[in-house]
Amino acid sequence: MADKIIIFDTTLRDGEQSPGASMNMQEKFRLAQQLVKLKVDVIEAGFPVASPGDFECVKNIADNIRGAQIAGLARCNVKDIDRAWQALKNGENPRIHTFLATSDIHLKHKLRMDRDQVLALAVASVKHAAKYTSNVEFSAEDASRSDLDFVCKVFTAVIEAGATTLNFPDTTGYALPDEFGAQVKYLIDHIPNIHKAVLSVHCHNDLGLAVANSLAAVNNGARQVESTINGLGERAGNTAMEELVMVIRTRADQMKVSTDIVTEHIYPTSRMVSTITGMPVQPNKAIVGANAFAHESGIHQDGVLKERTTYEIMNPADIGISTGNIVLGKHSGRHALKDRVTAMGYTLKDDELNRVFDRFKEVADVKKDMFDEDLEAILMDEVLRIPETYTLLHLAAMSGSKSLPTAAVKLLVNGKEVQRSAIGIGPIDATFRAIAELVQTESKLLYFSVSSITGGTDAQGEVLVRIEDKGGKVVVGQGADPDIITAAAKAYLNGLNRLVYIKKENNV
Ligand code: KIV
Ligand code: ZN
Repeated sequence: MADKIIIFDTTLRDGEQSPGASMNMQEKFRLAQQLVKLKVDVIEAGFPVASPGDFECVKNIADNIRGAQIAGLARCNVKDIDRAWQALKNGENPRIHTFLATSDIHLKHKLRMDRDQVLALAVASVKHAAKYTSNVEFSAEDASRSDLDFVCKVFTAVIEAGATTLNFPDTTGYALPDEFGAQVKYLIDHIPNIHKAVLSVHCHNDLGLAVANSLAAVNNGARQVESTINGLGERAGNTAMEELVMVIRTRADQMKVSTDIVTEHIYPTSRMVSTITGMPVQPNKAIVGANAFAHESGIHQDGVLKERTTYEIMNPADIGISTGNIVLGKHSGRHALKDRVTAMGYTLKDDELNRVFDRFKEVADVKKDMFDEDLEAILMDEVLRIPETYTLLHLAAMSGSKSLPTAAVKLLVNGKEVQRSAIGIGPIDATFRAIAELVQTESKLLYFSVSSITGGTDAQGEVLVRIEDKGGKVVVGQGADPDIITAAAKAYLNGLNRLVYIKKENNV
């Protein structure tokens, strides 16, 4: 039987370190539920010591999610490890994941420690974590740029101290596949007690090699891979789980390993992550990009119509991409809506379904065909939307080739109605100026994009903004509406509400 690869998902921790991709507690919880459906083995839920908000998110997931091990990150110190355990202790087979750098660059410039000190601290920390649980992972940060004999020495010692998973990260995304595979083999050949632990890898994508490096590691004996949905993560991101899993499945003839991932949940999970984080998936992204199964040339279309496998190496249905894209129309009932939303990976409570259904009817009235993307926009608005400090009550914007672009905005701010008008370079600029004055924000708009959710002039417009507050915190805001100026106002307010919410969450 093929060896199983343990899939360790770090979308909620390393993935959240993508600039602007922060998620709130409710969003993280929903995503954790979806990761259980996907059947990942381990969910790294966060870094509990990082902030009170992070702690609560990890605790909420550990307390309530069943069906996957829950991990929490901790640096190698008593405070971090104690805090991680406080958050994790009610979880299912909870894992403390502690890390310390091993490369000379990090030792000299960041830690200011020598190798003996690092070895002693790693051992003491793993021993401390092992007092709480037998499920302890140790990561040697920047391992791929470390002296391998030193990594072997540290890994041998931390296994003795109680670590059951050893993670070998390519923290800077520097390694090449053959080189990384050889490094993994070297570890297996030179760590005498390696059979007592699982060897894991964690690759970053700075040179676009994270998936290739992870596969090379698997081919050389690694049995856990750390990855994220859509490849989210610090800088250029991490190993994209959907790519890794589909390589293993599609090329089972070569790979000789397997995962437990229910691949039919891959696409809904990818959409959910993109919707929640506001990070769009590039259209030509492997497996989950909008064009991944689109055949443009006549020759290809003809081939696929005659026999799908002429140009398709994977069946879109195996990834959970529905073939008929038009899903619902204005005559569809609550049942059909519920079925579709469930297939998209969302489990709604009755009141949530009612809200989504009411909004669905409103949009379907002006838009003939409703696509999954339309439903996602509604779900984002009605279910995933964070509590609002600022609510849009009314917007009137005027523009034209000869008129001065003007916007009049009425908001509900902490229960009080306020209104203002402003002029701007265009109607969206005027709207944003009016909102900024009403909420007295000093935040900066870093990015603005508008796109149509589906084709056709009746399509909903989707606006994505990225804003930064005075303290440097970056968030995304999203809004969708058949009217793009309203969509822009909703997106801006969503970002501003997110900043307020994060501030509150971090002070729990
Ligand atoms: O990239 C890295 O080295 C990490 C560790 C904490 C595992 O994220
Ligand atoms: Zn990382």
